[in-house]
Amino acid sequence: MKNRYQNPDKKGNFGQFGGAIVPPVLQENLNQVTRAYEKLKQDKSFQAKLESLLKDYVGRPSPLYLAEKLTQKYRGGKIYLKREDLNHTGAHKINNTLGQALLAKKMGKKKIICETGAGQHGVAVATAASLMNLECEVYMGRRDIINQHMNVYRMKLLGARVKEVKRGKQTLKDAIDEALEAFIKEPSSFYLLGSVVGPHPYPMMVRDFQSIIGKEAKKQIIKKEGRLPDYLVACVGGGSNAMGLFYEFLKEEQVKLIAVEPAGLGEKTGKHGLSLKKGKPGIIHGFKCQVLKTRKGEIKESYSAASGLDYPGVGPEPSLLYKEKRLKEVGITDKQAVKAFQELSREEGIIPALESAHAIAYATKLAKKTSKDKVIIVNLSGRGDKDVKNVYENLT
Ligand SMILES: Cc1ncc(COP(=O)(O)O)c(C=O)c1O
Repeated sequence: MKNRYQNPDKKGNFGQFGGAIVPPVLQENLNQVTRAYEKLKQDKSFQAKLESLLKDYVGRPSPLYLAEKLTQKYRGGKIYLKREDLNHTGAHKINNTLGQALLAKKMGKKKIICETGAGQHGVAVATAASLMNLECEVYMGRRDIINQHMNVYRMKLLGARVKEVKRGKQTLKDAIDEALEAFIKEPSSFYLLGSVVGPHPYPMMVRDFQSIIGKEAKKQIIKKEGRLPDYLVACVGGGSNAMGLFYEFLKEEQVKLIAVEPAGLGEKTGKHGLSLKKGKPGIIHGFKCQVLKTRKGEIKESYSAASGLDYPGVGPEPSLLYKEKRLKEVGITDKQAVKAFQELSREEGIIPALESAHAIAYATKLAKKTSKDKVIIVNLSGRGDKDVKNVYENLT
């Protein structure tokens, strides 16, 4: 992996994955976004504006916190939490939405269209849109609207229009389908994608905007421990918080990367979102990745109690890193995640997002089987306020 890792290529391919498999009208639009992004990446005033927003508006750098009580409980490796839950709007999603909204503004766009699953991306987009005077339309599945209604109120309060998606399973995949259709009908708008998925340039752009997580974590752990960590652990829906943490460490081969996928009701029940492990190379939402398929080769529905992880595909970059064995995949069930949700609340006084609780659950398993001199960094991708009611009423 050393030095030879330079992905994606010009067409957005990450090895056999990625690309842009879209109708010509959309391709022209994506080319414009790619050109604008490549130009702004080098633009010092754009970078300075984004940096100042991340510092003064989001509250970065987010702390790297040693969870001492949790560490003591498992008597093994030290568990550090990268506190993305402390960001403005309560998750890592804001790092990316501010970057893309600034880009949209520079491109002269007036309206943003986006999708959301757990509502965290929708809230972060609505926030950036309100800050930058952009019109905002958020597509959200009906089932997610019911599970995450606090986030729906937040988006409305911030001035966004929430469009209820009633097709299919009424979750994230369907929301992306409908949002992409709306974007094709309205090419003058800007599509603001929330994870490292979709056609080129989104997987690259979202990863770049999220890579601040790993850059900070690297400096912070060197300051605290005088060395690099042994393990990085992150939950994976599309893969943006994971790639955000992992990217800076890709070339450090001694650092083990662990992607925690939602095993839902259990791998054997078929009700899960284990796209890396159980998926096959295929196309979803305009790009190629590991995707869950039925025996007939159609896209299979995913399942997770955590709306943000409930997606049958996964980013092209995590797909490639998995196939190249640079990244290890593990599964955590709904039940194990709920247990970790409660445990982190009681042990450390931190209520994690149900998505992030998947990563916490695996980190405690890992701590138990590693020696005390090992260092584990877990991405605490978001806070759990949005999940409290659902966990209380339906999951315990
Ligand atoms: C708090 C939180 N963590 C993780 C995710 C999963 O997304 P990704 O894999 O892109 O980080 C979501 C998605 O909504 C989320 O809200």
